[in-house]
Amino acid sequence: MTGQVLSVASECAPLVKTGGLADVVGALPAALAGQGWRMRVLIPAYAGLAAQLDKAQTLADLGTLYGGPARILGGQAAGLDILLLDAPHLFDRAGGPYSGPGGDWPDNPERFAALCRAAQAVTDGALSDGWVPQVLHAHDWQAGLAPAYLRYAGSPVKSVITIHNIAFQGVTPADRLGALGLPPEAFHPGAVEYFGQISTLKAGLVTADAVTTVSPRYAEELMRPDFGMGLEGVIAARAGDLHGILNGVDTAIWSPEADPHITPYGARNMRRKARNRAALLQEFGMGEVPGPLAIVVSRLTWQKGIDLIEAALPDFIEAGGGLAVLGSGEPGLEGAMQRAAATYPGRVSVRIGYDEPLSHRMFAGGDAVLVPSRFEPCGLTQMYGLRYGTVPVVAATGGLADTVITANPMALAAGTATGLVFHPTDALALRQALRRLCQLHADPGAWKSLQRAGMRQPVGWEVSSAAYAALYEGLSG
Ligand code: ADP
Ligand code: GLC
Repeated sequence: MTGQVLSVASECAPLVKTGGLADVVGALPAALAGQGWRMRVLIPAYAGLAAQLDKAQTLADLGTLYGGPARILGGQAAGLDILLLDAPHLFDRAGGPYSGPGGDWPDNPERFAALCRAAQAVTDGALSDGWVPQVLHAHDWQAGLAPAYLRYAGSPVKSVITIHNIAFQGVTPADRLGALGLPPEAFHPGAVEYFGQISTLKAGLVTADAVTTVSPRYAEELMRPDFGMGLEGVIAARAGDLHGILNGVDTAIWSPEADPHITPYGARNMRRKARNRAALLQEFGMGEVPGPLAIVVSRLTWQKGIDLIEAALPDFIEAGGGLAVLGSGEPGLEGAMQRAAATYPGRVSVRIGYDEPLSHRMFAGGDAVLVPSRFEPCGLTQMYGLRYGTVPVVAATGGLADTVITANPMALAAGTATGLVFHPTDALALRQALRRLCQLHADPGAWKSLQRAGMRQPVGWEVSSAAYAALYEGLSG
């Protein structure tokens, strides 16, 4: 069958991105087109976005939303079928999608409620081109009210919500209930009430027809208190409707054979990967690194375990390793990485910032990619590592555990090992994993086997797009 699905999110690559959510929202439409589903993506018209649309036209006038005029624009961008909620008083601001110079935008609840209102209007047939979806697919807390609006209005359109990261829950004071367009009866523990406040993520979790998250392992973890972050009971109550569907990566963008940012290479000409390594060392101002050159491309936050790297580093450097870091985030962790670079000049180098082309050069030039996350719903960088023959060293959690096969002696002998998976997520276990990494790197046969197995592993969207299509079909059929 074929069908129509509206994807609702706060980010979509390449238009607006702060993390993997954008990559996934931007990759799903092409992946699902192959399954017979046309997906349009609704995002806010942040500053400058409308100008990026080709053939932009007004598809709906939504009147006044939260104190200003709002309309929906439609058009094409980067091969995507984009709908923009154009409401300048809410979104046309200098700053990021969620925050400005002074921190989080104080009206975030209203801003994303407006997005969900617009989504509801689309499902009600507001678009002048006559397009109406059978399924609404909401992503994270920013879109959490959309399934709730559909449910409370008795809409026939089915809804799915995907949890990309449970740490962000859209928590808002209870007195905003009416302002968010929720009926009084919604404020109880079985609905949107959350420890005396409102959670828009919870609103989505209790009202959507199906709940998904971005890896099978994270789906299990979410039902446990140590990962559910207060929502474990809510999720466990929906266990029958919960699906863990692993993210893919966009192999049109992430392929060492055809990456315009690097000296291209493939599993059969890995000598050309060495050229990328030499170029990377030079670009980072590093000297000779006798052991493995590890890279980190990440938000620098507690979730990502960056502090563990700081603690494990002296041992790794002593064993011959080197480290190149690209990221930005918490000032304390940025400082920690900069201190490490100052302590080990030539062996550790850090770029604070966000730079997509540089990230490609790092995956091409690195020997290993470190992802020591305390929790990781899916994670994309370990999959880029697999594709680029850049051996992932990951914590045994979420999608990291689902995508990397650890190099124990038997998996190595069988040629199935693709990286190192360590447990628990602490500095000692990371230190041991890095020791082992150095040993493996010094053994050319083992190293080649790891790289080859990783590069062979399918990490595209083929399997998961079929899983989403089956889910949509089951709901709408
Ligand atoms: P999360 O969404 O939790 O940050 P993911 O691994 O799912 O983690 O996705 C992160 C995405 O952002 C990847 O595409 C990664 O390459 C990219 N990324 C993170 N930090 C940077 C940076 N400083 N420069 C360029 N790309 C980055
Ligand atoms: C979130 C998660 C990350 C996941 C991404 C895309 O940002 O932290 O693990 O890969 O969403 O689903």
